[in-house]
Amino acid sequence: MKRSLHSIHVLLLLFVSLLLLPHIINTTSVALDSSHHLLPRDDNTTTSSSTTSSGTSNTTNPTGTHSSSNSTHIFHYNQTTVNRTAAFNVDYQLNCKVNDDPFCAKVENGIRLALLEFAHVIDLKTKININITYHSFCDEGCSNSSYGFGIPSSQFILPFDTGPDLNHVYPQALAKQFVRSFDSSSVWAASDVTIELNHDAYMQSVDYGKAESLGWNGTGIPPTGRFWFMDDPTSNINEDQVDFRYVVLHELMHGLGFLSSWAAYFWSSTSPFRQLVENALDDSLLKVVTPGMYWSVLENYGPTFITGFQSTLIFDKFLVSTQPSLANMSQLGFHMQEFCQQDTQAFILNFINSFQGTPQYTNAVSLFDTMATPQTLFFDFATPAVANSTFLTNAYLAATYHNMTLLTGSAVLDTQLEQFDQTSSRPGTAISHVDDDYNSTVDFLMTKGFLMGQTLEQLTDEMYGALPSAITYSIITSNHSIVEHRNYTSPIGPGILRMLDTMGYSTALTNTSYVATGSPSAKFRSSCDDINDNGVSSSNDDADSNSSSSGNNTGSAVSSGSTSFALALHPYFGSVLVPSPLLLLSFFLL
Ligand SMILES: *[C@@H]1O[C@H](CO)[C@@H](O)[C@H](O)[C@H]1NC(C)=O
Ligand SMILES: *[C@@H]1O[C@H](CO)[C@@H](O)[C@H](O)[C@H]1NC(C)=O
Ligand SMILES: *[C@@H]1O[C@H](CO)[C@@H](O)[C@H](O)[C@H]1NC(C)=O
Ligand SMILES: *[C@@H]1O[C@H](CO)[C@@H](O)[C@H](O)[C@H]1NC(C)=O
Ligand SMILES: *[C@@H]1O[C@H](CO)[C@@H](O)[C@H](O)[C@H]1NC(C)=O
Ligand SMILES: *[C@@H]1O[C@H](CO)[C@@H](O)[C@H](O)[C@H]1NC(C)=O
Ligand SMILES: *[C@@H]1O[C@H](CO)[C@@H](O)[C@H](O)[C@H]1NC(C)=O
Ligand SMILES: *[C@@H]1O[C@H](CO)[C@@H](O)[C@H](O)[C@H]1NC(C)=O
Ligand SMILES: *[C@@H]1O[C@H](CO)[C@@H](O)[C@H](O)[C@H]1NC(C)=O
Ligand SMILES: *[C@@H]1O[C@H](CO)[C@@H](O)[C@H](O)[C@H]1NC(C)=O
Ligand SMILES: *[C@@H]1O[C@H](CO)[C@@H](O)[C@H](O)[C@H]1NC(C)=O
Ligand SMILES: *[C@@H]1O[C@H](CO)[C@@H](O)[C@H](O)[C@H]1NC(C)=O
Repeated sequence: MKRSLHSIHVLLLLFVSLLLLPHIINTTSVALDSSHHLLPRDDNTTTSSSTTSSGTSNTTNPTGTHSSSNSTHIFHYNQTTVNRTAAFNVDYQLNCKVNDDPFCAKVENGIRLALLEFAHVIDLKTKININITYHSFCDEGCSNSSYGFGIPSSQFILPFDTGPDLNHVYPQALAKQFVRSFDSSSVWAASDVTIELNHDAYMQSVDYGKAESLGWNGTGIPPTGRFWFMDDPTSNINEDQVDFRYVVLHELMHGLGFLSSWAAYFWSSTSPFRQLVENALDDSLLKVVTPGMYWSVLENYGPTFITGFQSTLIFDKFLVSTQPSLANMSQLGFHMQEFCQQDTQAFILNFINSFQGTPQYTNAVSLFDTMATPQTLFFDFATPAVANSTFLTNAYLAATYHNMTLLTGSAVLDTQLEQFDQTSSRPGTAISHVDDDYNSTVDFLMTKGFLMGQTLEQLTDEMYGALPSAITYSIITSNHSIVEHRNYTSPIGPGILRMLDTMGYSTALTNTSYVATGSPSAKFRSSCDDINDNGVSSSNDDADSNSSSSGNNTGSAVSSGSTSFALALHPYFGSVLVPSPLLLLSFFLL
């Protein structure tokens, strides 16, 4: 059986353009009455308190701080997945696999507060669900320096004729905002964003002496670890601590689509592909930067085949390189999709050999060389989709934000970033950060390294305080008449928010309500489309290989010709494009 792991969900909708007509939305969308305002900052309906963990539900009371704790039904985080609401249209489910319920309550509270920050500035029309696991990565493969990772739970190519792009891959959280009628459809993955946070990173940094001086008696999780929580016994954050909410927000951004498909898949030492080819081919052949690939494995442990390159993520549509011949990375992605191989030529070594010498290969090599140099890649902003975008009306924003410099430099071609843990190698996340220089600006959230020793409030106060003037924006309150002026002070800086709005999110500063505008984009068709197995496959073919492959398939010997090499198939690998190994899903409405 051939395992085809990496196709893309395609939603095929009939009459889908109707869904975007405002009058249809008027009659079908329950979210309508909130469509003109974002969640107010002091909204009391979404959270009962800012510092307790009681959440919005009375079903569980993990810390037992309420009077009803005298019950035989004691709640244990480690055995339960908590499903709760953090804010309007933002649910989360938390599995805190740590045997210390009060500690997990701190974790949950941090998550809730981070999601609340997010909900203040991103306008969601369809409810999304954030799936968070807090656990020791060492249970599966250690990565102590990794704080966690965030990815879209699934991704889609949208079927529209106008508005949203037809040719790039959308993270589920965003796809859902555009295709609202599918809210309850089986097409969607159960959660929209998957985040895993690493308890080992916390434990690595515990100061036991200090923990004892704070009253820790030796049982449970000691305080003073890497993450600082709002409800920690000391209100002061240590120099080596990072605000937990900051980590959650950072990973959330990746899961919402702050993620690139371009990477050195054959070069990065954390990439399983490298292990398949590194002793079989000359190193110079492997120094290429490409989009993610269509690949499959014959039988569970058989040879690996690559037929061609996949569409790139919506994030990648806006990348421009300083190298003139590579400037339009979106076009470059289309060009890459014109190269493909079939049958034995698709065997990974043959694929790379035949790739050599093509125009695509020349570009892939140039990209590798260019990306080895810092500040050579930019995220270029599209014109805001609405005329009253604060990015057009506010003089400071209009003058400041035309593009963002992304993180490049040799490190991005071969390094362990926070998403690079051994169980979920995803080289594609390498360039999904902004340049380090933003670490002293309001856009600090998405630099590669986390700023230590300051709480989120301290960071935002400092960064926004350094601006020449406050960033004021208007919102229309729920009765559709009163205009309220606010200062933008979100930890999701204006530049980061602008990247999200360029990808399609409706935000506090550019509120589009997801009503499509713009001219039709032509559907790109590559002669390779058929070769890449983009056709309909039998449903559920090995749909569970995610879990079935996660065990002992590292280190199985695979031989080809005279060379044998290790196959390291990681469950998520390649899932820059598809986290679960799902096949193309043709879905017809009506
Ligand atoms: C929120 O609750 C606090 C006290 O719990 C109250 O002072 C404040 O007025 C409330 N805000 C709104 C908008 O209801
Ligand atoms: C939650 O509270 C409501 C009203 O206070 C009550 O009707 C409901 O039974 C409670 N649920 C649980 C699970 O205790
Ligand atoms: C629960 O409450 C009852 C009376 O309110 C008390 O007698 C009992 O000791 C309590 N049990 C525990 C475990 O606190
Ligand atoms: C939480 O949600 C998930 C997925 O929707 C579901 O599988 C699980 O049973 C839910 N758990 C609870 C306690 O409701
Ligand atoms: C969960 O925690 C409870 C006590 O808090 C403990 O008895 C149980 O063994 C823990 N389970 C796991 C799977 O760690
Ligand atoms: C949530 O994430 C965990 C770990 O990534 C996964 O095992 C679980 O199936 C996910 N649940 C849902 C509902 O997506
Ligand atoms: C240590 O403190 C915890 C509460 O933080 C308590 O439950 C436990 O009984 C204490 N253990 C000892 C040995 O004092
Ligand atoms: C990025 O924007 C700056 C102005 O803010 C401009 O000078 C620069 O040329 C832009 N770079 C690219 C690659 O568009
Ligand atoms: C911020 O980034 C610069 C490089 O641009 C680096 O030298 C500096 O150490 C970083 N600052 C912090 C606090 O991480
Ligand atoms: C922006 O313009 C749209 C109509 O184009 C309007 O519905 C919306 O309320 C305006 N937003 C603000 C903040 O003025
Ligand atoms: C916004 O910031 C300015 C300057 O810091 C301040 O004067 C003003 O009161 C603030 N406005 C609001 C609504 O907080
Ligand atoms: C399977 O993995 C376990 C540890 O994860 C290891 O002890 C065992 O030797 C492996 N078996 C094979 C056949 O590789």
